[in-house]
Amino acid sequence: PPVQLWGGRFASGPAPALEAISRSTQFDWVLAPYDIAGSRAHAVALHAAGLLNDDELAGMTSALDRLAAAVADGSFVPLPSDEDVHTALERGLLDLAGPELGGKLRAGRSRNDQVATLYRLYLRDAARRIAFAVTDLQAALLEQATTAGAAPMAGRTHFQHAQPVLLAHLLAAHVQALGRDVDRIRDWDARHDVSPYGSGALAGSTLGLDPALVATQLGLSRPAENSIDATASRDFAAELAFAFSMLAVDLSRWAEEIIVFATAEFGYLRLHDGYSTGSSIMPQKKNPDIAELVRGKAGRLIGNLTGLLATLKGMPLAYNRDLQEDKEPLIDSVTQLELMLPAITGLTATLTWNLPRLEATASQGFSLATDIAEFLVKAEVPFRVAHEAAGECVALAESTDRELDQLTDTEFAGIHPALTPQVRSVLTVAGSLAARDGLGGTAPVRVAEQLAQLRDRVAAD
Ligand code: ARG
Repeated sequence: PPVQLWGGRFASGPAPALEAISRSTQFDWVLAPYDIAGSRAHAVALHAAGLLNDDELAGMTSALDRLAAAVADGSFVPLPSDEDVHTALERGLLDLAGPELGGKLRAGRSRNDQVATLYRLYLRDAARRIAFAVTDLQAALLEQATTAGAAPMAGRTHFQHAQPVLLAHLLAAHVQALGRDVDRIRDWDARHDVSPYGSGALAGSTLGLDPALVATQLGLSRPAENSIDATASRDFAAELAFAFSMLAVDLSRWAEEIIVFATAEFGYLRLHDGYSTGSSIMPQKKNPDIAELVRGKAGRLIGNLTGLLATLKGMPLAYNRDLQEDKEPLIDSVTQLELMLPAITGLTATLTWNLPRLEATASQGFSLATDIAEFLVKAEVPFRVAHEAAGECVALAESTDRELDQLTDTEFAGIHPALTPQVRSVLTVAGSLAARDGLGGTAPVRVAEQLAQLRDRVAAD
């Protein structure tokens, strides 16, 4: 008969529809290695409490070793009759250790504290892998920033030309945001470094088990302080779902820029053949599919976060079976990020910038108008007046189809007497960039400092 963890009081077996809605092995099997780690730790706690003798502990550990190997090589897999990963592994353990010894492991634990623990362990490993993959993308962006050197481009607000910036400054802005994504995952890691094992179903155990011992065995720094909270809470999952969504959103914003910058109208960059796709009908096409998929999947990750929050919001404490719905969203977010990150990293590392085009368009759209206003401010003109005067320069240039530096000395002086020919010194992209040398500004010296700091930080991460 199939192994069941709860058959005793039932006269009949589960209806097929119950089995179907209840079964979770199709997604929770990825947790199997972590469940086995939890079982090993629990066996040590049972031994310490005198509930397993030395031989039994040795037998249990050896059976769990063999089970782990069989899971790893795929020779042990869940059956359709296994309700969840825990049930399947219980069946495997009973086979390997025999029903007598194998049947002792469940003492003093419940699937409720078990799943709360092993899900954290799974997420912790996934979070660390993902944070590491983010640093690869940061390194690719920094490499591009280094190659770009002091190349200028049009900086944008409202997606309109605003003020010239260094391309390296824009790339570094993405590195900064990704750095916070990594920090957020780190903070999460530290906050949820807690073992719920020992909480039992919700109220703790009568068997004198030491939760701190289990925590240590699992490499978690401390046991949970409240057994109800430990089995009922999933803020650890929701918080990581947010950190992952925010990361995906940051990837998506970079992806969106790649998509736009690769168009013929912009012509800012070219995609590497290995990281772009063609069209089945239009032979000329070169499509930024990776960037589009990253942008699309960001929406999916946001859905995973909001779906999980909605699952949690109405649930009384402690465990409810709704909580089984906590897994697919995060497992999916992990799976998607592990596809997205290498792809966008490769795309980023291999794209080529059209630096002459970036430079040629950097001052278009009157992006040096602020420089005119600030030139006047330095001549003690109130900013309100300076802003008006610079605006008049723009209006004149625009209506006569010229750039700002094509206005004549007479025209400048006619707009404001303080607009002497010296104003031309700020009407160059290089002058405008170099002048923005305050902390965090786009001046080449500041950007070089910023890149050096980022390189150190990313190397340390
Ligand atoms: N598979 C369940 C989950 O992921 C754990 C089992 C707890 N089930 C129960 N009936 N107490 O939440």
